[in-house]
Amino acid sequence: MPLLNLKNQALALISQTVSGQELAQLRIAFLGRKGQLNQVFKKLDKVNYGRQFNETKQAIESALTERQTQLTGTTAEWFDLTAPGQLPPLGHLHPISQAIAEIQRIFEHLGFTRVRYPEVDWDHYVFEALNMPADHPARDEWETIFIDAPAHPKLGQMVLTTHTSNGQVREMERVKKPPIRMLNLGKCYRRQQDPTHTIMFHQFEGLVVDKGISIPHLKGTLDYFGRQWFGPKIKSRIRPFHFQFTEPSFEVDMACVFCDQKGCRVCKNAGWLEMGGAGMVNQFVFESAGYVRNEWQGFAFGFGIDRLAMLKYHINDIRLLTGGDMRFLKQF
Ligand code: DAH
Repeated sequence: MPLLNLKNQALALISQTVSGQELAQLRIAFLGRKGQLNQVFKKLDKVNYGRQFNETKQAIESALTERQTQLTGTTAEWFDLTAPGQLPPLGHLHPISQAIAEIQRIFEHLGFTRVRYPEVDWDHYVFEALNMPADHPARDEWETIFIDAPAHPKLGQMVLTTHTSNGQVREMERVKKPPIRMLNLGKCYRRQQDPTHTIMFHQFEGLVVDKGISIPHLKGTLDYFGRQWFGPKIKSRIRPFHFQFTEPSFEVDMACVFCDQKGCRVCKNAGWLEMGGAGMVNQFVFESAGYVRNEWQGFAFGFGIDRLAMLKYHINDIRLLTGGDMRFLKQF
């Protein structure tokens, strides 16, 4: 049955076309003046097969038109496998996630490597190894949440990390032989809740260990970060303070981004905003990690990410960051 074979062949080929160009070629091949249908027609017994011939022609024609509409209904006539894909809408990056990516980028430029250490850790790494024994009054400031589980004979109880400083001794133990340029970034927990404090918050911890490290290296690093985060004009200063795990210790201030140091409610007329703590690594901490006393020098710093993000994006209530309101989140 040449007509039936022809029809089936034509319909199969038409259904497999992926472009208008291919369709046009098939139209010529089957329905054109010198096309296959006319070739068959020449040899055909016109009396008996005239009607079937017309039906075949019509079937092929309507298949061509139908496929044409299908193809033009899709966006691309020609499918380029190598073209980059279109990203499906996946929501919106949270401002804290954006801040974390940006902080990582800034410190990577200075040669820091981002690491992650436990956010539920032993007392030893969070406090003891950092020169904060259980009965020391300085430790009260950390308002710790303890895990109700048996204590480890050497490492003590498990706590929700109150700061990312637990990464310091963990990193020193891992590296064993400096240099170290660590950026430990993670979640921290303290018993606190008000418009500027939440039980869970984020910190990053910088740690540099090498030979001949001194305060100017620390100040240069902090200045670089400040300029990258707040813009090239930002002023920063370090001010003497006390931390058990650094000697000397500092608090790090940056010029108030709200009033340009004229004095306002946010900076309580000081013109400066407190950003975090820093200092030169206490030799006690090196010894905790098994290093020889006075063989290495280093500096460390710890900043609150939620606070940095609030100041940069002018967010006045920390609870907005965990409220999950899309109208708020979409602004960043
Ligand atoms: N861990 C301190 C806090 O949470 C911040 C801090 C102070 C980190 C001094 C440091 C440092 O690395 O050297 O308040």
